[in-house]
Amino acid sequence: MTRVAIIGAGPSGLAALRACESARLGGTEIPELVCFERQADWGGLWNYTWRTGLDEFGEAVHGSMYRYLWSNGPKECLEFADYTFEEHFGRAIPSYPPRAVLNDYIAGRVERSGVRRYVRFNTVVRWVDYDARNRQFKIRSKDLANDTYSEEVFDYVINANGHFSVPNVPTFEGLDRFPGRVLHAHDFRDAMEFAGKDLLIIGGSYSAEDIGTQCHKYGAKSVTFSYRTKPMGFAWPASFTERPLLTKVVGKNAHFSDGSSKEVDAIVLCTGYLHHYPYLPDELRLKSNNRLYPLGLYKGIFWQDLPTFMYLGAQDQYYTFNMFDAQAWYARDVILGRIALPDAASRAADIRTWRANEENVADAFEAIDYQTEYCRDLLASTDYPPLDVDHVAKLFKEWEHHKMAGILTYRDRAYPSVITGTQSPAHHTVWMEALDDSLPTFLATRP
Ligand SMILES: Cc1cc2nc3c(=O)[nH]c(=O)nc-3n(C[C@H](O)[C@H](O)[C@H](O)COP(=O)(O)OP(=O)(O)OC[C@H]3O[C@@H](n4cnc5c(N)ncnc54)[C@H](O)[C@@H]3O)c2cc1C
Ligand SMILES: NC(=O)c1ccc[n+]([C@@H]2O[C@H](COP(=O)([O-])OP(=O)(O)OC[C@H]3O[C@@H](n4cnc5c(N)ncnc54)[C@H](OP(=O)(O)O)[C@@H]3O)[C@@H](O)[C@H]2O)c1
Repeated sequence: MTRVAIIGAGPSGLAALRACESARLGGTEIPELVCFERQADWGGLWNYTWRTGLDEFGEAVHGSMYRYLWSNGPKECLEFADYTFEEHFGRAIPSYPPRAVLNDYIAGRVERSGVRRYVRFNTVVRWVDYDARNRQFKIRSKDLANDTYSEEVFDYVINANGHFSVPNVPTFEGLDRFPGRVLHAHDFRDAMEFAGKDLLIIGGSYSAEDIGTQCHKYGAKSVTFSYRTKPMGFAWPASFTERPLLTKVVGKNAHFSDGSSKEVDAIVLCTGYLHHYPYLPDELRLKSNNRLYPLGLYKGIFWQDLPTFMYLGAQDQYYTFNMFDAQAWYARDVILGRIALPDAASRAADIRTWRANEENVADAFEAIDYQTEYCRDLLASTDYPPLDVDHVAKLFKEWEHHKMAGILTYRDRAYPSVITGTQSPAHHTVWMEALDDSLPTFLATRP
């Protein structure tokens, strides 16, 4: 029987399981599936851990999410077309849920489809080899709880390990003598730690914006952002400043490339993440920065040199859960023989075209359009339920405008579901005052 390995049970790996299971429920014989997940439960980054550094088995902690994290985009833009929020929660809920609520939604779909039996939890993939003679992969994994190694062979591998877990950590002159805490966003857990403090945040993207606004919400005295390329440019309240790149730190004084300086108590490096695949040989390993179209992946999925090896979720993400579904359904259909891949030259030409178009993307609005076209292209070939990506793109663009109109208030907006058309209700508490991010409090109809 054909065997498929899935590495990771985060939203991408779970999309692969769900895609296969939906084919099975439709009467198709599916391959044998083994999903390796090094954490004790599924959900990937959404499965919150208080741990930082190494876990109880001495493995690097995967989690980059922190307490009080709320979705940074409308949930209507990521809703599964085959499992709506209304189906999961029994009613419409507000547009910007906190982490626990989204985790519940992700887990609910797969729990109900009964795919837990395919997942080996606490099992980390250590190495993947390809044997060209029999066209099979050999996967060496470690059962962390039982402290044992295994080797097994597979015909296909779906690599869904995520790429926002291993931090990119630059250094700056004087950091080694800074008399306060220095950490990367990957290790940030609780904004309360910075209440009353002057905080310096390096980076100009989502983590910087979100950790900065969250620390403000939980009482930071001031937030200074230091950007390398360009400022975020939001209409920041008075206690925020944007400065160009940090040049050095002298004592508690941070110096910036425009000659200005600021005394700070703590520094958070929101400098992004590395594509990190320590269990893959050079021949299978994606080497990329965080971008919309990493090279080497046909349809953004199939490893050009060996298409039986696939990556899900390897691109930078406007679209998330429903894009992972679009990819998973496509990958599944290739594995099931429903879609035939073109020859290597045609695949290479296709990759070149998508990459050239990506290089012409000038701003966030064009990036949204680009990823919309990418999703549309995948969705056109499979039986994934209808998803109106033009409507999703419209919501993403409204979201961008709403962020510019109020970086502390955009999460108070509500949008209609793209799938059901139902207008989401406003949340009972505005985001700046919603200090309790628990699922029961969020789902309550009043504070
Ligand atoms: C701080 C933060 C906040 C975010 N907030 C949002 C948001 O609000 N909205 C949104 O849509 N997206 C958000 N994202 C984007 C996020 O990337 C996706 O939502 C989603 O989690 C990606 O799913 P994934 O399955 O590809 O990767 P992950 O969620 O990272 O899951 C990968 C899984 O693979 C497992 N794994 C890794 N290596 C191995 C191995 N060697 N062996 C076995 N298992 C392995 C991990 O344990 C993990 O469970 C956020 C990302 C970050 C970092
Ligand atoms: N609440 C939420 O939902 C939430 C919160 C946080 C993160 N996220 C998600 O997490 C993912 C990752 O976001 P991210 O912001 O961590 O990574 P990112 O989007 O890849 O951005 C990395 C940032 O680090 C900067 N940087 C990199 N190296 C640097 C250096 N040497 N010096 C100075 N700056 C440097 C980059 O600057 P340049 O622009 O100059 O390259 C960029 O601004 C995104 O998908 C995001 O949506 C979501």
